[in-house]
Formats: sequence, C-alpha cells, structure tokens
Amino acid sequence: MKSIFLFAAFGICLCWTHMTTRAQTASVSVRVDKPAGQVSPTLHGIFFEDINFGADGGLYPQRVKNGSFEFTPDTMVGWRKTEDNRAGGTLAILDDKPLNANNPHYLRLTVLDGGQPFGISNEGFHGIGVKRGDKYDFSVYARPASAEAMSLQISILDSKNQVIGSGELASFSGDWKQYSCTIESSATVEKARLLITSKTPGSIDLDMVSLYPEETWANRPNGLRPDLVQLLKDLQPKFLRFPGGCIVEGRFLSNRYQWKNTIGDLTERKLILNRWKTEFNWRLSPDYFQSFGLGFYEYFQLCEDIGAKPLPILNCGMACQFNSGELAPLDQLDQYIQDALDLVEFANGSVDTPWGKKRAEMGHPAPFNLDRIGVGNEQWGPQYVDRLAPFAKAMKDKYPDVKLVAAAGPFPKGREFDYAWRKLPGLPVDFVDEHYYANPDWFLQNANRYDNYDRKGLKIFAGEFAAQSVAIASPLNKNNWECALAEAAFMTGLERNSDVVAMASYAPLFAHVEGWQWTPNLIWFDNLRSFGTPNYYVQKLFSRQIGTAILPVKIDDSSKALFGSATRDDATGDVIIKLVNTKSAVVSADLNLSGVSPGPLGGTAYVLSSDDLNAQNSLDEPMKVSPQESPLANLGGQLKRDLPGYSVTVLRVRAANR
Ligand code: AHR
Repeated sequence: MKSIFLFAAFGICLCWTHMTTRAQTASVSVRVDKPAGQVSPTLHGIFFEDINFGADGGLYPQRVKNGSFEFTPDTMVGWRKTEDNRAGGTLAILDDKPLNANNPHYLRLTVLDGGQPFGISNEGFHGIGVKRGDKYDFSVYARPASAEAMSLQISILDSKNQVIGSGELASFSGDWKQYSCTIESSATVEKARLLITSKTPGSIDLDMVSLYPEETWANRPNGLRPDLVQLLKDLQPKFLRFPGGCIVEGRFLSNRYQWKNTIGDLTERKLILNRWKTEFNWRLSPDYFQSFGLGFYEYFQLCEDIGAKPLPILNCGMACQFNSGELAPLDQLDQYIQDALDLVEFANGSVDTPWGKKRAEMGHPAPFNLDRIGVGNEQWGPQYVDRLAPFAKAMKDKYPDVKLVAAAGPFPKGREFDYAWRKLPGLPVDFVDEHYYANPDWFLQNANRYDNYDRKGLKIFAGEFAAQSVAIASPLNKNNWECALAEAAFMTGLERNSDVVAMASYAPLFAHVEGWQWTPNLIWFDNLRSFGTPNYYVQKLFSRQIGTAILPVKIDDSSKALFGSATRDDATGDVIIKLVNTKSAVVSADLNLSGVSPGPLGGTAYVLSSDDLNAQNSLDEPMKVSPQESPLANLGGQLKRDLPGYSVTVLRVRAANR
C-alpha cells in the first residue's frame, strides 16, 4: 500500500497490476468532424484451410476415420481387427463391383466360426469423442457376400473397452444399400472407439462406415461441429476464405483442390491425400486425407449461417511453388478456367442452369450470392501472371460483377512481391492478396504500412497474417499475448487505412491439439472442447467493434507505446476508439474528440490485457486472456482513460454533437 500512496503523491495514476511501473501520459485527438473515408464493410473475415485436422476430425464431425477404405495405399488406416483369438474370420479390401467408381475400395468381413464375435474397430481421429446422453447415427453401405443371414453388433467402447452405447443391424439383402441405427452414449469420453462385429458366420461387404453426431450446427444431417461454428459466428466475420492456403495448389496438380469433387452425394466425393500429411517432417500425419464431407456446398451454407460472404480461392493451373511447382501448360488452362466459371454458376446460377440445378438438388435453390473469387494462392512470377491473365479475362467477360483477388506471392516484400505489384495493376483484377507471417516486431513496425498506398489503386486483401513468436512454420510458435498484442497494433493500421485495405484474415484458423502441423492458429480444440486464443479475442474485438467512417487520429505519446485508430458508426453516432498499449507502463490518455462530446449516456469499454506477454489460453483455461467489458458511465464531456500496460482498449462512446 505504501507504494500506492507514494506514487499518488506525485499525481501519477496507476492500476493495480502495474503498481511498480511508472505511468506515462499521452494525448489522443480524434477528428470526429473530419471523416477520412469509409471503413470497408468487409474488413474483417476468416481464413479456413484443412490443415491441423481443421476439416475431417475438426469442423466436420464425422467420427470414423477412413470409413470409405480409400486411404491408399494403406486402405486399413484407422481400422483394427478384433483382438479375441477365439473368434475366427478374415478381413479383405476388395475393389470388384464397388459402390461407385469414385469409391473403388470396400471391406469384405468374413466370419468363419459362430460363437465369438469377430470384426473390426475404428480409432477415429485422435480417438472418438462422445458425450453422455448424446445420440450418434451409425450408418454403413452393405452388401451380403454369402447366403447366411448375418447381423452386425455396433458398439461404442470407452478407453477401458466398456460398452457405452450399442445398436444392431440385420436383414441385409441384395446389392449395396445403406443401413443405419442410432446409438446413445451413456458416458462422456474423449477417446472412445467404434466396434463392428458379428457372431454369426458369413461374409458381408461394407463401405462408407459412418458415426455422425445428431447434434450439429442447425441440427443438419452432415452438419458441422456446433462449438466451432459458434466460435466463428461470434467473430461476426464479413467473409470466409476457403479452402486455403496451399491446399488450393497441392504439392502436385493431381492433388490440387477441385471443388467439383467435393459436392453431391457423400459416396461420390473423391477423397485425396491431404498435402499437409508430409509437409513437415517434425509433424508427419500419415493418416491425413481429405474426405470432402465438408465440401463446397457445406462451405456456402456455413457462410450463410455465420453471415459471411463466400470467398473461394481457386487453383489457376499451378501446384505449390514451394513444392513441385508443376504447371498446367498455357494451352491447357481451359479446364481450370471452366471450373472457376462453373463455380459461379453453382453458387449463383438459376435452377435451370446445369450447376444451379445441382445446388438446388442438394437443397438450396436460392443463390449463395458469390461476388468475389481468388485466382491462385501464394503464386508468383511470370508463370503466374501468364495464367492469371486469361483466367481474369474469361471471368470478367462472363461475370463482370464478380471481383477478383490476385496473389502477391508468399512474402510481404521482395522480388516476387515487387514483380506482382508491377504487373497486377495492368490486369482486370480488384484485390491484391498480401500475406505476412513475421515476428511481433515486424507487426509493430508495419502498422503504418498502408498509410502511403495509392488510394486509387488496387485494393488490398491481407489474406493471411499471424505473428510468429519464434519463426515462420516453427513448431515452437505460440499463440501468446505478445503476438496477439502486436497483431492488434498492426490492425489499427488496417482500420485507419480501410479505404485501401478491403479485407483481412488471420491464418490459419483451426488446430486439433494432437493433430496439428502448423502453429500458431486462431482456435484450438480436442475431440470435445475448444477455445479461442488471445489472437482470437483481438480479431473478435476488431471485427465486432467496427464503425462505418474512418476518423483521423493523432497520438502524442513520448513513450511511443501507443497505436490507435478510430471510427464512427453512422447508424448510432457512436465513436469507436481503439488504443493498443504495447509497453508495460500504464498510459494515462487524455482523449479529445473534436466535433462532438462524449454524451451523458456514456458507452462501453472493452479491455483485453495481460501483464504477461507469454500468457496463452488453453483447453483448461480458455478465457485466461479475454476481454473485460465495463460501462463508461456519464462521461460529462471528459474522456480520460488509463490504458493498462500491454493492453488493447476499445472505447465505444455515445457521442453528442457539440
Ligand atoms: O496458413 C498456412 C500456410 O501458410 C498457408 O497454407 C499458405 O498459404 C501459407 O504459406
């Protein structure tokens, strides 16, 4: 207590968490009467890529891994024969008379001897997560391969092999048919297993084995994991970039992302290996494939559910230039261009068009209102420009209203970046996709990056960014407060310049705590729980507290700790001020709002802070670094604020005209 009185005697305002650090003063002037442009209505969005088991085993909650037996060459990945030696039987992967040509393999289960159950179990994705009282729909395509009448026992087992839910299927007949039953779990288990056995002898063919939770987002069959969608929706994202990322490109063109293989009946979706399977030898993921259960239809539906504009990024005839760099010859680009044109028809076309009809058949006759598309991911060099040019021309000829995103390569400066910026203004494109993965200092030093960009030139899409605590792609990177704070400081620059910066998204989005290849990520999860990182809460604050007009801000702060931006929300008249204190000392700020006074109604303050730059959130402490909200009561025309050390403060002030 003594120290408080001592400091108080010198008239210095301190907050409890920084009692030992001398407070600094600053003045912040906001020109409410002189807006400097419009805030981009699509400024903050999200970036989704199937990396870190973000789709299968994550947002797509199918519990069975390799239910189609298509994980080639090891088609039994995820499956194990029952261990009881008293049971007799064989397992074989066959491919004659399959379910369909896109799904050529299936399992023949043969039980030789009645008596003891024989069959297979599935380990799921890092185990199978089930909750007590929740229902799971088991289904399988089956075809009897012998005359005996077989029945199948379906069980969910906990980690001690105790049955915690079961069902039975019988009366198999004829050709391939789907059979199903519902299983209720009597326990909550993070790493359960699925067991399929038969006591009766005979042979049966099985394919597309599925255990799917009934509880999904919007209770949709084949719907998405609700806690993860809720975290996305809470961000109030204005767009959703999909499906990546390098996954768009593939290591080779053969495993590039092809949207047409991801729609329609689930059994027809042609699985491929996930390019992140072998990218980093310190995080090999031999069981990482893309089932496309979460495909382009589910993606468009998700955009609609969370109020985000779709922003697909498509392959332009180039495999990842960090890998094979394989190129489609220039005279063979038609298929790539046609895929892009057809995607617009699938999203927006009337139900009388071939692709619009497919959308309607999947359950969505109304258009998805696609108005922007990216051509290529982190492509660079003349090879890119040569492919982008015919792509962009064909798209603008047919769909002049669809805006195009062009890539500026993987780095925020340098030869590839400069080359892109020399060439792109000559092409019919609208946004340039700039990526920044860099250390926290880079983000602080680049908060003014866009201050001098050409206001009349191409608009910016900051399509992937994240501060890296150690180095790009290092497995030691952490989602710590230091990185999140640096991103917040940088984002004040995006907001101040959002007449130029049209869109921005943190990347990557999701990671399974046991299945990741890349870190940091915005949201982490296990089979049952999930949490937002400090970086998530920065994104959430910026995205939700966004106005419509950019207000000029002048900061006089001798300690050089502060970064700031301000906007006005024309619908409410509220003035929204964001101030990021990047140093440990409290900054006592005098705020001067010219043209208005903070009204008697006050407003709201949101403060995100930690005095520990290494602080992180976790499954056990999901809200350790998260915003605190408090009222700004009767301001009486004065606005003074102590900004805690290492903090992001957002003040939403109800302002009255002076
Ligand atoms: O976000 C992870 C990867 O980083 C993306 O796939 C790629 O575009 C970037 O290099």
